[in-house]
Amino acid sequence: MKKRILVIHGPNINMTGQREVGVYGKETFESINSDIRSWANQLGLELVEIFQSNSEGAIIDKLQEHRSDVDGIVANMGAYTHYSIAIRDAIASVTIPCIEIHLSNVHSREEFRHKSVIAPVCAGVICGFGKYSYLLAMEGLSHIM
Ligand code: DQA
Repeated sequence: MKKRILVIHGPNINMTGQREVGVYGKETFESINSDIRSWANQLGLELVEIFQSNSEGAIIDKLQEHRSDVDGIVANMGAYTHYSIAIRDAIASVTIPCIEIHLSNVHSREEFRHKSVIAPVCAGVICGFGKYSYLLAMEGLSHIM
């Protein structure tokens, strides 16, 4: 049976391709999602859902909704990464490996981006590879689920 994954994009990630292109690149959100879909296919994974929300509560609801029907999660929680204890608790409460990803290398940016409150409850972290951060995380997950 195919392993099932959920991809979550947090706040402002839907603006990728239009916002701060010097940092996040010109590739659009839609085109990244389309690459995520075809890569899932190539890896033999079932992509249950690609979910984006600008709201903390909606992200937590989504994690809870899928707590028992997916095998792995790839998440770019955007700015929530740096301060949302509520999202951290939601990830900790689902016993599914979650990979934290970022398009940019957060460690080469402002100091407030160096801290992740979710990393300690994630199985791994990938950042700095643009859209490939998502694809690398999916590949990594496929080996550990
Ligand atoms: C980001 C990095 C975060 O610090 C920032 O708030 C984002 C995007 C990234 O993908 O590089 O919104 O998660």
